[in-house]
Amino acid sequence: MSTVIRTAEELEGDYPVASGTRSPAELLALAREIAADPARWEHAVRHDPHTRTYALLHEDDDVTVWLLCWSPGHDTGFHDHDVSSAGVAVARGAIVDERLTLHGAPIARRLDGETGATIEPTEIHRMRHPGGEPAVSVHAYSPPLVRTGAYEIAADGRLLRHAQPGEDALVPPRRLRDPAPSVVGRPAGRRADVARAGRPEPRHTRGT
Ligand SMILES: [Fe+2]
Repeated sequence: MSTVIRTAEELEGDYPVASGTRSPAELLALAREIAADPARWEHAVRHDPHTRTYALLHEDDDVTVWLLCWSPGHDTGFHDHDVSSAGVAVARGAIVDERLTLHGAPIARRLDGETGATIEPTEIHRMRHPGGEPAVSVHAYSPPLVRTGAYEIAADGRLLRHAQPGEDALVPPRRLRDPAPSVVGRPAGRRADVARAGRPEPRHTRGT
C-alpha cells in the first residue's frame, strides 16, 4: 500500500474553519479599534496588584474580546491558544510579549500603544508586565478561545504541555529564569478574578 502525501494547498479545504473566523491581522485591527475607544472598556478597568483581572468586552460565535489589566510581576507563563488566532493591542502602559524558541532566549517585544501583536495558533508565547505603571490591553480571539496549552520543562528536560480548560488562569509555576527559562507555565488558580463587565457567564475562555 502506498502512502499518499498531500500538499498544504490540497489539504486547505479539509479543515472545518468557520466562515466567520478572523485572521490574526483582522483580530489585531479589531483589538486596536477597541483599545482606541476608552468608552468601550474604561468601565471594566480594575487593577489588582496580586493578579491580572479580566473583563469580557465582546462574545459571538466567531470572536471573543477580553480586557486585561496588568500590574508589575504579572506573568502568563508560556502557553498556546490551541486552535485560536489572536490579536493584542495595548490601551495603556506596556506589556512584553515573548515567543518561545528551542535554542537561546525567547524572542521578546515590548508592546505599547504604538505597537501590537498577532499570534498564530501554532505559536507558543508568554505575556508579562515589565514593571512601572499598570497596563491595560485588549485581546481578540478567533475562533473563540475555549482551551489553552500551558508549558513546563520537567526535571529531565522534557517539554510538557498541559491542556487547560477555560476555568483556569495561566501563571508560571515559579519565577522564570531569564534568558533561558527552565519552567514556562502550568495550569493555576480558578477564575475568581474575572470581571464580567455586566455580561452573563461567558461561554469561552478568557484572554491569555
Ligand atoms: Fe496568549
